[in-house]
Amino acid sequence: MKKKNILFIHHSPSENTKRLSKIVENKIQTATLDVNLTTLNLIKANTFSFKEIDGLIIGTIENFGYMSGLTKDFFDRCYDGLKDKTEGLPTIYYIRAGLDGEGCKVALNKILIGLRWRQVLPPLILKGSWQEDYLKQLEKFVLTFASGIELGIY
Ligand SMILES: Cc1cc2nc3c(=O)[nH]c(=O)nc-3n(C[C@H](O)[C@H](O)[C@H](O)COP(=O)(O)O)c2cc1C
Repeated sequence: MKKKNILFIHHSPSENTKRLSKIVENKIQTATLDVNLTTLNLIKANTFSFKEIDGLIIGTIENFGYMSGLTKDFFDRCYDGLKDKTEGLPTIYYIRAGLDGEGCKVALNKILIGLRWRQVLPPLILKGSWQEDYLKQLEKFVLTFASGIELGIY
């Protein structure tokens, strides 16, 4: 069976969010999973990054009641190029939000529906004051997803 490819695109501007994206990278790479992981800062992601991708993880923050500017910039640049070429892509996302995360979630869900990506797990919203437990929650979230991609169950 062909080895599956997961793309992880993220915007992690703070120390805490850098820890979150490192957990995603490290845990998938060190788990005994037969998947390839490509990690890209959202500023470097483009439509070519989606070639031969079997699953997608998005990590963003909420700013001003919306997804961060860099996350929006990615969709501004790539939406048209990805539309009708990536339908059905199994996708999950997490949001780090100081207070809420709801505005970011609503906006992302609309874009995912437009692109016809399949959200295979409910989003993980890490909101409020920083908690070390967020790292464990995110680890479990992405390993569940990566296992599902490896097994082809999505
Ligand atoms: C300019 C600015 C706007 C923000 N707006 C929101 C917001 O609308 N909703 C929210 O939940 N958090 C908001 N935050 C908090 C960020 O989401 C949070 O700082 C970010 O996720 C990084 O998390 P950390 O502080 O734990 O590193 C904002 C932060 C800044 C600096």
